[in-house]
Amino acid sequence: MTKQNEFDSIVEDIVKNNNFRELDNELHHGITRYGHSLRVAKGVYNVTKKLHFHYKEATRAALLHDFYFNYQLEENNDFKKLVEHPKVAYLNASKYYKLTDLEKNIILSHMFPLGNTLPKYKESVCITLVDKVVAIYEQQRYKLGMKLGVYFLFIFNMLTLHK
Ligand SMILES: [Fe+2]
Ligand SMILES: [Fe+2]
Repeated sequence: MTKQNEFDSIVEDIVKNNNFRELDNELHHGITRYGHSLRVAKGVYNVTKKLHFHYKEATRAALLHDFYFNYQLEENNDFKKLVEHPKVAYLNASKYYKLTDLEKNIILSHMFPLGNTLPKYKESVCITLVDKVVAIYEQQRYKLGMKLGVYFLFIFNMLTLHK
């Protein structure tokens, strides 16, 4: 079995869940929350499999770590959203899946050092790191895309204005 096939089989039921797929309509670091979650899950799968950790649970929890919708947190300020969204993700995920203690801890502690759940397992620590690296990468790419967009618009305006 290839790595891609194994990854697909681990997350198959989650990516087929229509409610989870709705994350494709939520903006997150300049892409969709679905895209972000998939990227974190793939990173976590690669790292935890290599390290011989509990990679199947880690991968599933990584995919579910941001399973929340903007409307569920709209009454919170930005800081509170950072702290509260893991709890909402945990509640949403547990509506559909019977989560193990490891999966629960991974989701609830993924914003560490923010929040009041400590990462209890090595897999949880792994996700807090992969999520942050992915978030920084996505934000930088988004900012770069915005800057390039502004430059292109500027050049386009210059060219068309001076015709
Ligand atoms: Fe998150
Ligand atoms: Fe995340």
